[in-house]
Amino acid sequence: MSIRARIEGVGHAVPPRILTNDELSTMVDTNDEWIFSRTGIRQRHISGPDETPFTLALEASQKALAHSGVAAEDLDMVIVGTVTGDMQFPSTSCLLQDAIGAKHAGAFDVGAACAGFIYSIANAAALIETGMAKKVLVVGVDVLTKIVDWTDRSTCVLFGDGAGAVILKGVEGSERGVIKTVLLSDGSGAKHIHNEVGGSRYPFGSPQAAPRSQKVYMNGNEVYRFAVQAMGDACMKVLAEAKMTPDEVDLFVPHQANIRIIESARERLNLPSEKVFVNVDRFGNTSAGSIPIALSEATEMGVLKPGMTVLTVGFGAGLVWGANLIRW
Ligand code: ACO
Repeated sequence: MSIRARIEGVGHAVPPRILTNDELSTMVDTNDEWIFSRTGIRQRHISGPDETPFTLALEASQKALAHSGVAAEDLDMVIVGTVTGDMQFPSTSCLLQDAIGAKHAGAFDVGAACAGFIYSIANAAALIETGMAKKVLVVGVDVLTKIVDWTDRSTCVLFGDGAGAVILKGVEGSERGVIKTVLLSDGSGAKHIHNEVGGSRYPFGSPQAAPRSQKVYMNGNEVYRFAVQAMGDACMKVLAEAKMTPDEVDLFVPHQANIRIIESARERLNLPSEKVFVNVDRFGNTSAGSIPIALSEATEMGVLKPGMTVLTVGFGAGLVWGANLIRW
């Protein structure tokens, strides 16, 4: 009998500090009307000096563990999707593994930007389905506000910080769990969104780094064009591989980057608005945190219930994109 990776618990955490569009307008030449009409964002949560992916991941993970009833020492693996990890190394997942007391677990980070949670869930499901792990903690977390250029109005208005966590458990013959996953990439698009400095090619303080920006660079129009195509394509592909149709989806939980991108994916799938979960207005784009925060909120609100078919889809720097189809 085959094993499915079933979601047993969820949790999320965001920094308490809220930055509204109006407050942002006092920092750069922008306004609430422009930001809201182009992106659907009204506010975002911003981390302070002591808030990091680790601290946010820890809070979200403790909530997810409590919600699932799974003990940390029973975890076999800790996976953290992030591109803003606390340090170059060790991985944020190792810091988390220690702090929660997952004494018998392996730990690794997944660097797939805003698709980090989609990629991490795919890894967890594969480990569980092949019998390599039984219980896995997956976290999506980013604090992009620490590496955006706060003088660049075309990028700084988009991002917020936050973490979401889920506990997956292998269950034989289960109807519920991760049904299908697709992962895609196109590295030729690295030029459209990147943060070059700080790696080993352009180390901080080196002559090679000097002429380059140390902050996030993004060509918004190119990323927008890519995202509209990629979101729809990944959804159709994962549904086709599962031999399912869009009308069988009970809840669509897309990466929360921009309401217009979400809307174009909704139209491509021909889904009614009430089947689409949206919180980009309150959180902005929290990168790898975006989808698991939405899943956790949807659960808290009673919008997402056991047995429902959930379609999640994400895209990000790489370029990378993918989708997870889950029976909740
Ligand atoms: N406030 C006011 N005006 C602005 C702002 C701002 N915050 N930002 C840009 N503008 C101006 C521009 O300067 C431009 O002015 P101009 O015509 O005088 O030159 C005008 O507004 C239009 O700019 P566009 O870039 O064409 O605006 P657009 O409607 O395309 O929206 C946006 C820009 C919101 C960035 C859009 O392109 C987008 O959402 N792209 C996708 C970004 C994304 O999702 N990134 C996440 C990547 S995932 C990851 O891995 C992190």
